[in-house]
Amino acid sequence: MAKFRKLLTPFKIKNLELKNRVVMPPMCQYSAVDGVPNDWHLLHYSSRAVGGVGLIIVEMTNVAPNGRITQHCLGLWNDEQQAAFKKLTDSVHKHGAKIGVQIAHAGRKAQDEPNAVAPSAIHYGELDYAGQNLVTPKELSTEEVKDLVQAFQNSVKRAVDAGFDTIEIHGAHGYLIHQFYSPKSNQRTDEYGQDKALFGVEVIQAARAVMPENMPLIVRISAQEYGENGFDIDYGVQVAKRFADAGADVLDVSGGGDGVLHKGNHPEFYAGYQVAFARKVKEATGKPVIAVGMLDNPAVADHVLGVDDADLVAVGRGLLRDPYWVLNAQYQQNAVDGSEMQFVPRQYERGFA
Ligand SMILES: Cc1cc2nc3c(=O)[nH]c(=O)nc-3n(C[C@H](O)[C@H](O)[C@H](O)COP(=O)(O)O)c2cc1C
Repeated sequence: MAKFRKLLTPFKIKNLELKNRVVMPPMCQYSAVDGVPNDWHLLHYSSRAVGGVGLIIVEMTNVAPNGRITQHCLGLWNDEQQAAFKKLTDSVHKHGAKIGVQIAHAGRKAQDEPNAVAPSAIHYGELDYAGQNLVTPKELSTEEVKDLVQAFQNSVKRAVDAGFDTIEIHGAHGYLIHQFYSPKSNQRTDEYGQDKALFGVEVIQAARAVMPENMPLIVRISAQEYGENGFDIDYGVQVAKRFADAGADVLDVSGGGDGVLHKGNHPEFYAGYQVAFARKVKEATGKPVIAVGMLDNPAVADHVLGVDDADLVAVGRGLLRDPYWVLNAQYQQNAVDGSEMQFVPRQYERGFA
């Protein structure tokens, strides 16, 4: 196994200093009550901090009750939620990682939600992956769209006050911001239909306005749709440029979420299947990018960084399987070349000696 050259090196953007390039991407736990993080979240995220992850991004956390995928999703619209998030950021900091949160609204993909809203009254069109029917969403009025920009801003402000080091805006996977910039789900005639990226742009500007100047803003996008009649990577790159111009400091480059996978419209799911998108977004925007998608082989992840396809790598399911992914990757390497172990908690040193 080749030595890791970049995976374990530090990265800095604005005031955010990461001890290595490994990001835990947002992954819903569907374990909250009334949107409030609890013991599960505390243990789950703190374990990954103990395990040496550089940046943890807390799962999709929604700006309004009807913006949750399920009633067990996290929310950040009241004081009780904010106070519980503060406990979480304190714990993750204590265990040596930086922590961000993904601020979101599910739009037409809100399950069990009679009041689901979206850019246009277009049904998502299938049973979703949890097997539950979604309703046909109500089309938002122009005024309601502006209220939602405000709701995003309120949650971002709360996240900053709760001690997060960075904010990620969820503009991917078929959720509300993606629903606006996708021609498939936005058939509005007002300003938000004429300029499909406008809603995302305004959310980014509103977020920036309540964030400290030196705190970076991450925006996750679907750089390509994977369903029938989905937009291509060139369209995704144009969206990324608009979001970068609006104030995104880092693009987290994912894909899909627009419906059933359509043969020929999506990459085969091989290791690093979305890395080519990350590179295109990086080249077009000049911004640092996070690559994601089956990067759980550490040598592959290091390669992606080494050839400059991306600045950070996200390991999702790999970190669900193994909270100590960063430590175990090094340990295996260490067995080959005796390289130094880093980020090992004092209490676990003998496990990696
Ligand atoms: C259980 C689970 C929950 C997820 N929840 C979210 C989420 O809240 N927000 C998001 O943007 N992506 C979510 N994702 C997608 C992941 O962030 C990641 O992009 C995806 O798993 C691909 O990376 P991987 O191959 O390393 O797992 C989720 C994935 C999983 C497996």
